[in-house]
Amino acid sequence: MLRPRRLRMNEGIRSLVRETTLNVNDFIYPLFVVEGENIKKEIETLPGVYHFSVDMLEDEIKEIKDLGIKSIILFGVPESKDEVGSSAYDNEGIVQRAIRKVKEIDKDMFVVTDVCMCQYTSHGHCGILKDKYVDNDETLEYLSKIALSHAVAGADMVAPSDMMDRRIEAMRNTLDDNGFENISIMSYSAKYASAFYGPFRAAANSAPGFGDRKTYQMDPANRLEAVKEVELDLLEGADIVMVKPALAYLDIIREVKDMTNVPVAAYNVSGEYAMIKAAAKAGLVNEKNIILETLTSIKRAGADIIITYHAKEAAKWLKGEI
Ligand code: PBG
Repeated sequence: MLRPRRLRMNEGIRSLVRETTLNVNDFIYPLFVVEGENIKKEIETLPGVYHFSVDMLEDEIKEIKDLGIKSIILFGVPESKDEVGSSAYDNEGIVQRAIRKVKEIDKDMFVVTDVCMCQYTSHGHCGILKDKYVDNDETLEYLSKIALSHAVAGADMVAPSDMMDRRIEAMRNTLDDNGFENISIMSYSAKYASAFYGPFRAAANSAPGFGDRKTYQMDPANRLEAVKEVELDLLEGADIVMVKPALAYLDIIREVKDMTNVPVAAYNVSGEYAMIKAAAKAGLVNEKNIILETLTSIKRAGADIIITYHAKEAAKWLKGEI
């Protein structure tokens, strides 16, 4: 008789036949850096995640490393904004200073940077405005400058999240022309215009001042368009492609995994994190189990890399520490 339940009899057999195993090496942990000094302040919309001033990064980086997490992605929250987001490519900008500090604390911490303009522009859009429309090709010049300034500061990988056309090509050329041919690019290839970014926009003060991001971020209704975006990014030289958000887009993660040989990343975004935290706080779900199930599902769908605010707690659980 065929009895699939035989392979579920006990943990011994279940662990032998388990197809997907989470590993701390899968994670990239997001860090928010702010201007000022002596700041470590919990972000209201993201419980358990903090704003750090650069001088307060040391303990955090050491904790992350001790947990076995080897990669972080930096998000800057600048003090000053202008039409062209000039603090984004300032060598003394918040992200550039944070990169140098992290490398000083731990030269082996793999530092990824988010390359975008929305936190830095006065209007909150991810590029240069012309008649209230984000001008694609002019924006490319700025994005390239931002990516280059991150590389100069010591970043290992840049991750453009703006969704302009041909940004990977523009950045690759700029990095190569300046001797940064070994700095890799992880493209937010299929980034959807999602309501799941709400808590991040509050944390990064990056909500658009008018309108929305639908003329550059993708329509959640589209699947084939994600395939097209990934194909173009690969032609332009992306080393890693990303799907964002993760949970409502597991089908897209699978689709992208099946079409390419490059590593696939998924961004388990702020809204996904905040919903679980709220449900756990209300006593509606078992927090540990639901987080590990969620992360395992993202990996099972095809993600090789998971960017997640849960990275630290998941690392502790995987180690058996808590
Ligand atoms: C910047 C950026 C956003 C996120 C990552 N990079 C916000 C947005 O596009 O509005 C969202 C991350 C998250 O929600 O956790 N463009």
